[in-house]
Amino acid sequence: MKILIINGPNLNLLGSREVVIYGEKSFEGYLPILKNLFQDFTIEYFQSNWEGEIIDKLQEADKKYSGVVLNAAAYTHTSVAIADAVKAISIPVVEVHISNILSREEYRHNSLISPNCIGSIIGFGLDSYRLGIESLRVFKKK
Ligand code: DQA
Repeated sequence: MKILIINGPNLNLLGSREVVIYGEKSFEGYLPILKNLFQDFTIEYFQSNWEGEIIDKLQEADKKYSGVVLNAAAYTHTSVAIADAVKAISIPVVEVHISNILSREEYRHNSLISPNCIGSIIGFGLDSYRLGIESLRVFKKK
């Protein structure tokens, strides 16, 4: 199974950004751990701070991957365009968040993206990505 992880704005700063919430590990540090855990998967990774680049990547991913693990970061709460892109493609997209967005500020409680995803995994730290990949495996088996 070939899957794509897409991280949105400011997630390039994982490891140094708000470490109490997001932890001390960078995503580049975590990716080899993930790849090692899922040796039967091909895992590719893309990060952008730009909404349009995330949309382009989602469109390109369609049919090239078996699924996408998407942490749209702050765009989760604001981007109709990313939500539309998720809806427009035919491969499964799972939404993940490192923090529990429902226990944080009210403006983070709503996700425009979740209705167009196969499901959402929130609040498990970087393990949310591992669970996200696992959920794509479960979804495929259904
Ligand atoms: C986040 C939660 C968002 O509200 C926030 O804007 C992020 C990260 C998370 O993974 O917990 O940048 O998506």
